Amino acid sequence: MTETLQPPARQTTADTPVFAVQGLWKVFGPRPERIPADPELAALPPAELRERTGCTAAVRDVSFDVRKGEVFVVMGLSGSGKSTLVRCLTRLVEPTAGAIAIDGEDVRAMDRARLRALRRHRAAMVFQHFGLLPHRTVLDNVAYGLEIQGVGKARRREKAAEMVAKVGLEGMEHRRPGQLSGGQRQRVGLARALAVDPEVLLFDEPFSALDPLIRRDMQEEVIRLHREEGRTMVFITHDLQEALKLGDRIALMRDGRIVQLGTPEEIVGSPADDYVRAFVRDVPREQVLTVRTAMRPAAADEAGTGPAVRPDATVAEAIEAVARAGAPARVMDQGRCLGVVDSDALLEVVAGTAPREAA
Ligand SMILES: Nc1ncnc2c1ncn2[C@@H]1O[C@H](COP(=O)(O)OP(=O)(O)O)[C@@H](O)[C@H]1O
Ligand SMILES: [Mg+2]
Repeated sequence: MTETLQPPARQTTADTPVFAVQGLWKVFGPRPERIPADPELAALPPAELRERTGCTAAVRDVSFDVRKGEVFVVMGLSGSGKSTLVRCLTRLVEPTAGAIAIDGEDVRAMDRARLRALRRHRAAMVFQHFGLLPHRTVLDNVAYGLEIQGVGKARRREKAAEMVAKVGLEGMEHRRPGQLSGGQRQRVGLARALAVDPEVLLFDEPFSALDPLIRRDMQEEVIRLHREEGRTMVFITHDLQEALKLGDRIALMRDGRIVQLGTPEEIVGSPADDYVRAFVRDVPREQVLTVRTAMRPAAADEAGTGPAVRPDATVAEAIEAVARAGAPARVMDQGRCLGVVDSDALLEVVAGTAPREAA
């Protein structure tokens, strides 16, 4: 049976975020609704809240947009509320309070049929344990989501074969999951999610159990897929390096709240508080911060000489250019010199003594 639900009328524009989340709460425990409704209870620290009410506020008053085509990373330590948050987006977990919209459509108002369509067609989830079906071949595992959708056999095999190739598993179509390595199994799970061609992919720590090298492979794979398709992704991780590598923007969670939301450069360059500062302390700043951080106006005799770097070049890249040329580098944008970076300014970024970025 193919679903033929008509989308309800709604106002969308090119700028409508894929997900818009406002004041979202998820409280576990007895009579959870009273927590967000009562400012005094809502403000209690987690331990005290648990003591007084028996409730855990896994997600506390969280607001953010996921923009079309971005990789939106939710990062935080274990227990900070990441999984609960991402499950709320498609109501695998029912929110306690707040608003969620996908493409302008109210997710909390959806009936069961509409929710099923949301999960099957629009927002596909990729879990850490993919739940592959052990007795089915790679091809049939990848086709599984299409089968649920009611797509005919020939069409779903064709689509599955295409996705298997896309994630680099050509030649393995007829193996079973038990005959694959951990990394290959992850690829099957990824291909399965891609096969239904969802508007947004939701990843909940998919690579956490992998060996570091395989993990890096899978990260590269996600970056490559994103570059090729521009598909919107929400990616959950507790790993800062992974967050910095994959995220266009990162929401850093602590005890159910978002303590900072920004680009990797904003989070590393301008931590919002001591918690974030401690979190990012050991990040190699020169690999995250861009030359804009270290730039000064060009002197009259500098605008036409020296190596050129892009405005989004990292400080590490600029250091290499400056060292090679033995002269300050010009930051060039479409033929225009925005400023220069010299070795002193670049070193200050590495040392962490540079003034905060203006942006
Ligand atoms: N079904 C549940 N019942 C009660 N508490 C839960 C439930 N699911 C999660 N929690 C609690 O909510 C908090 C956030 O959990 P979770 O979203 O799994 O965090 P993360 O994914 O960041 O590790 C934790 O304190 C966890 O114990
Ligand atoms: Mg989790």
